[in-house]
Amino acid sequence: INIPVITIDGPTASGKGTVARIVAEKLHFHYLDSGALYRLTALSVLRSNIKIEDVGQIASIASHLPCRFADSRIFLADEDVSDAIRKEEVGIMASKVAAIPEVRKALVSLQTGFRKAPGLVGDGRDMGTVIFPDAILKVFLTASADIRAQRRYKQLMEKGIPANIDSLRNDLIERDLRDTQRKESPLVPAKDALTLDTSHLGIDETVERILDWFAQRS
Ligand code: C5P
Repeated sequence: INIPVITIDGPTASGKGTVARIVAEKLHFHYLDSGALYRLTALSVLRSNIKIEDVGQIASIASHLPCRFADSRIFLADEDVSDAIRKEEVGIMASKVAAIPEVRKALVSLQTGFRKAPGLVGDGRDMGTVIFPDAILKVFLTASADIRAQRRYKQLMEKGIPANIDSLRNDLIERDLRDTQRKESPLVPAKDALTLDTSHLGIDETVERILDWFAQRS
């Protein structure tokens, strides 16, 4: 049998993480936060003395990631790095390691391994285009840069992490540029993706729209 997959791709801070998690919960599906895998690789690189040019070593880190996902916490070996991987500097490094073809290749089987019954919601940049091309529903979430910067700012404030909205906005525009312009698996909507602009759409409305689309297809 073909295990159903819903892919939710889109730029930084488009709300896809939150939305994907809720959709997965409502359907009792598994959830793949593919960005976390690039962030885990980035964190390991930042903690080592490896330079970004050292493609072989970075790919080797990606293919041997000692990661574990449990109760919405993320572990690297035995360390809970759930908060550490959300830092801006880790996100920026993640978009750099994610542009390395060998790193992307090293993470493919880890990602496809998340596809288990009764189904999977995968969130990232290339879920619908590269990792799960046969997904039953492909969603592409967007929102204006201003709105996304505001959302990220609010998230950080709630966690008590100091932030500057202008530099957040610049960081996310720069990260989007790197993600959309890279040669390997760039951030683009799949041809058969449904695009949803969430600039003026709340989380609940976005979730509902996706659940409706899924119900129409299954
Ligand atoms: O989604 P998140 O912000 O956690 O992802 C961090 C970075 O990982 C992104 O900026 C992107 O460069 C990379 N990424 C990717 N492909 C994915 C998920 C994330 O290239 N499927």
